[in-house]
Amino acid sequence: MKSNKVDFYYFSGTGNTFLVVREIKSFFEENRYQVNLIKLEKADPAQVNLEHTIGLAFPIAAFSTYPFVWNFLKSLPLTDKSTEIFMVTTMAGSSGFIIPALNHLLRKKGYDPFGAKGIIMPNNLNFRNLPLARYSRIVEKGLVQARKFAHDLLFGFSHWKKSPFPASQINKFLQTEKPWQFMQKFLGMSIDTGKCIKCGLCYRLCPVENILMEYFPEFQQQCQSCMRCISFCPTEAIHLRKRKLHPYQAVKAEELI
Ligand SMILES: Cc1cc2nc3c(=O)[nH]c(=O)nc-3n(C[C@H](O)[C@H](O)[C@H](O)COP(=O)(O)O)c2cc1C
Ligand code: SF4
Ligand code: SF4
Repeated sequence: MKSNKVDFYYFSGTGNTFLVVREIKSFFEENRYQVNLIKLEKADPAQVNLEHTIGLAFPIAAFSTYPFVWNFLKSLPLTDKSTEIFMVTTMAGSSGFIIPALNHLLRKKGYDPFGAKGIIMPNNLNFRNLPLARYSRIVEKGLVQARKFAHDLLFGFSHWKKSPFPASQINKFLQTEKPWQFMQKFLGMSIDTGKCIKCGLCYRLCPVENILMEYFPEFQQQCQSCMRCISFCPTEAIHLRKRKLHPYQAVKAEELI
C-alpha cells in the first residue's frame, strides 16, 4: 500500500463486520501500519483524507447493502490522487453483484480499488435457532479469511473484481433503494409493550435515529433493517411483524455504539 496510514470506515449491525475489521486492523498494526477505525454512520464522507489508504467494511443486505451505507459510498469525494481503497463485506452466503458494481463507482470517482473480499459470517437474519457452536465455527473461519485478506492487501496479492457490464441495469438497480424497499415489506418491527422495560438501548443503538424514545420506543420511517435493536434488546421486546427472528449478537452492544 502506498500510504501506511489507513482510515477504515465500517458499519456493523450486529458485530460480524466489526470482528472482521478488528482482525484486519490487528494484522496491519503488527506490520507497522497505522489504522484509524471510523464508524461509517458517524462519518462525513466529505472529510475523507485522500492522502491515506481508505478501507470500507459493511454487511450485505438483500444482495446489496443498506441505503445509508450506499449514501456514504456515493458521497465519497472525487480524487485526482488515485487514492487506494479496499473493501470487505460480511455476509451469510452471497454478496450478489455489489463488489464489481462498487469497483465501477469508485474508479469513476478517481480511486484505485485494489482489493475486495466477501467473508462468510453467521446469518444475523436468522429464523432458525442454531446451536452456539455452529456460530463459533463460522466466525473462526471468517476471521482466518480476514487475516489472509489483510495479508494479501499488504503484500500485493489482493484484487477487486471488475464488472464485465459496468453500465448494466444491475449496477444502477443496486444503487437505488429498491432492494431495501422490497425487504421492508417483510421486516417491519413492532414493540411488545408488555416486555419493554424502557431502557432506551434500542434508541441509543440505532445508526440512523429511526427510534424515538417516547414513553415506549417508536419506530419512524427510516429503518434500514440492520437488526441491531431487535438483536440487542435485553428483553426481546422487539419483534418482526411477520416471522420470529432469533437474535444474533457477535459482540457486546457497547462496542457498536
Ligand atoms: C436485512 C438483511 C438482509 C441480508 N441479506 C443478505 C444477503 O442478501 N446475502 C447474504 O449473504 N447475507 C445477507 N444477510 C446476512 C448478513 O449480511 C450477515 O449476517 C452479516 O455478517 C451481518 O453483519 P453485521 O453483524 O456486521 O451486521 C442479511 C442480513 C440482514 C439483516
Ligand atoms: S431495548 Fe428493548 S427493553 Fe429497551 S427500550 Fe428498547 S424495546 Fe424496550
Ligand atoms: S430501527 Fe432497528 S433495525 Fe432499523 S435501522 Fe434502527 S437499529 Fe437498525
